[in-house]
Amino acid sequence: MKLTKKLTAMAMAVLMAASLMACGGKEASEPAAADTETQEPAADTSAAEDTEDTAADETEDAATDAAEDAADQVSDEVAAGGNIGVCIYKFDDAFMTTYRNALQEILEGKGYTVTVMDGKNDQAEQNNQINNFIAQEVDALIINPVMTSAADQIIATVKDADIPTVLINREPTAEQMAAYDKLVYVGCDARQSGTMQGELILDTPNKGDINGDGKISYIMIQGDPENIDAQYRTEYSVKALTDAGMEVEELDLQRGDWDRNKGQEIAQNDLAKFGEEIEVIFCNNDDMAIGALQAIQAAGRTVNEDIYLVGVDALDAALNEVVNGNMTGTVLNDANGQAAGAVEAMEALLGGKTYAEGEQSIYVDYVKVTPDNAADFQ
Ligand code: GAL
Repeated sequence: MKLTKKLTAMAMAVLMAASLMACGGKEASEPAAADTETQEPAADTSAAEDTEDTAADETEDAATDAAEDAADQVSDEVAAGGNIGVCIYKFDDAFMTTYRNALQEILEGKGYTVTVMDGKNDQAEQNNQINNFIAQEVDALIINPVMTSAADQIIATVKDADIPTVLINREPTAEQMAAYDKLVYVGCDARQSGTMQGELILDTPNKGDINGDGKISYIMIQGDPENIDAQYRTEYSVKALTDAGMEVEELDLQRGDWDRNKGQEIAQNDLAKFGEEIEVIFCNNDDMAIGALQAIQAAGRTVNEDIYLVGVDALDAALNEVVNGNMTGTVLNDANGQAAGAVEAMEALLGGKTYAEGEQSIYVDYVKVTPDNAADFQ
């Protein structure tokens, strides 16, 4: 691996030098070419240009040859040592789509050969994918487990195969990870996102108590309850309210499995059932919040006037609704930051780093998003 890195660095240097030289040559000749377009009569400068071009071409050719040689050598090395297997719990998830695209772009940009698999929300299917990657002798794995409860089994499998592994998005416990020292978790602390959702409500003019009855009446649309993100966001969003001394009333809590349609259905039923009583709709993620917004609008309610609505993720669609005032706020779940962190951790593992118990979780911060800063994330 070290050799690969060194060769990659060498090839990058040669390629950069070549492209700089090539750019240098072009930059010198292109303005002249552009000039000739506006100053037609200067046609007979072409002889001088030809000489210049020939000299530049030769330098360019030599540099390109050297770069190609180095790149050939490196691509052999990368193909031999840079195969990465990525397992995503399911492709049909709005946030994880942004995340996996970022991951793939970063890895490919660094010259790795990447294969990304769709677990289709089926742990057995994902187990097969992990076993196939192991049989193919990938150099490292990045895994977004389907079920948090499968962590022990996944960790035992990658440990047995001695494959450096980065877990993402569903955090196992520190004790579970301690079983294998070539294992790291990169993600966010979901408690933080829950707390921020609560703060978004506390920051409203009436602190969420729209009808002034002294309590905040809410419905909670939860993600997949097996997922720690769903558990913590549910708990900590409400905890932020009670910690601030507010009284709360939970009118309903239902699982929406991170899904827009389910978010819409739950909100629609609850709006029909509880009507004006609902002051706040907490959604564990934005996709469900977008669904809830459709139900809110269909029920003739107006966000930020007679109801509040918050999500998590800062999906593009949600950022637009925050800017338009149709969502009270959201929380940035930094897909790019987490993807970059996962690749960094993977490279540290590939470089031979091992991790002790208690140091195996690497966190990326959430950011509260309101109409004031939403544009920064669009
Ligand atoms: C959460 C995210 C959800 C969903 C979930 C999948 O962090 O907020 O939208 O993608 O991960 O595990």
